[in-house]
Amino acid sequence: MSEDKSCCGTSAKESCCESSCCGPSSATSIEEAVKESYGKRWASIKATTAAQPNSQASMQPAHEALLEELKPHEGMTVLDIGSGSGETVLAIAERVGSKGKAVGIDFSPDGIELARENAKKRGLEGIAEFHQAHAVELPFPDNSFDAVVSECVVCLIQDKQKALNEKARVLKSGGRVIMHDVITWAPMPRAMREDKGLYCGCVGGAVSLNEYVEMMTKAGLTDIKTVDFTQGAKRMLSLDSVAKALKKTKTKAAREIVDFVNKGGIGYALLIGTKK
Ligand SMILES: C[S@@+](CC[C@H](N)C(=O)[O-])C[C@H]1O[C@@H](n2cnc3c(N)ncnc32)[C@H](O)[C@@H]1O
Repeated sequence: MSEDKSCCGTSAKESCCESSCCGPSSATSIEEAVKESYGKRWASIKATTAAQPNSQASMQPAHEALLEELKPHEGMTVLDIGSGSGETVLAIAERVGSKGKAVGIDFSPDGIELARENAKKRGLEGIAEFHQAHAVELPFPDNSFDAVVSECVVCLIQDKQKALNEKARVLKSGGRVIMHDVITWAPMPRAMREDKGLYCGCVGGAVSLNEYVEMMTKAGLTDIKTVDFTQGAKRMLSLDSVAKALKKTKTKAAREIVDFVNKGGIGYALLIGTKK
C-alpha cells in the first residue's frame, strides 16, 4: 500500500489489527492510548519532515466541503478541535488575516509542537495559535468564536456529549459547528467497540448519524444539516486492510467485525449546526 494519507493510522503498514496503532503501550485508559498513538505519529512526522511543512489532511472531500461551508474570511475567529499537524488551522489563518484568529487545540504535546513549527515556517505565528488542551475542557471563555470545526476527532473522544457541549459553549450566538467524522450505519459489534486498536484507528468509537444529531441538538445547536461522505470512507480508513488482517485470526469476534465492515457498517459524514 502507498503512503498513508489518511488522518488515522490504519494503513496496511500501520494497521490497528496487525501491529496496532494503540499498542503495545503503558496507557491505562483508551484516551491515554489515543494520546500516545497520535503523539508518536506527530513526533515521527516532526522528525522526518523538518525541511517542509507536512501536508497531511484528513478525508479530502469532506475537508474541502468543510472549508467551503466555513468560508473563512477576514476578521473571522475559528477554533479547530484536535488540530493535529495544524494544516487546517493554517489554511484558515491564511484567509482570516491579521484581524482574525485561527486557533487549534490538541491534547498531544507533539501535535502542538509540530503545528507551531509549521505555523512558523509559513509565517503565520501571529494569526495561528495552538494550545494543548482536552476537547472536553476547552481553555476559552463562553462565546469566543465565530465557528468551531473538527475533522475526524469526535470519534476518538469518549464523552462525545461533553465535547459537543464545549464546542457550543465557546461559540458566539449565530456561530456554527462544522465537523466531519466517522459514523456507523448499523449497530457495531461489541468486540469492535472494545478493541483499543480499532478505537485509535477512528472506527471503534464511531456512533450513528442520528446519535450525532441528537447530541448536537442537546448541546444547543439548531438547523442541523448533514452531508454523506461514506463513499470515500473505506479507502480513507483502510477498511479493506483491517478486514483482511482480521480474517486471518478466524475468531467469531473477528468474523463479526469483518461482516460489519464488509456490509457497509462504517460511514463518514459532515455535520453542521448553528448556535441560537
Ligand atoms: C485523526 S487525528 C485528526 C487530526 C486533524 N484534525 C486532521 O484532520 O488531520 C485526531 C487528532 O485529535 C487529537 N485528539 C483526540 N482526542 C482528543 C481529545 N480528547 N482532546 C484533544 N485532542 C484530541 C489527536 O491527538 C489527533 O491529533
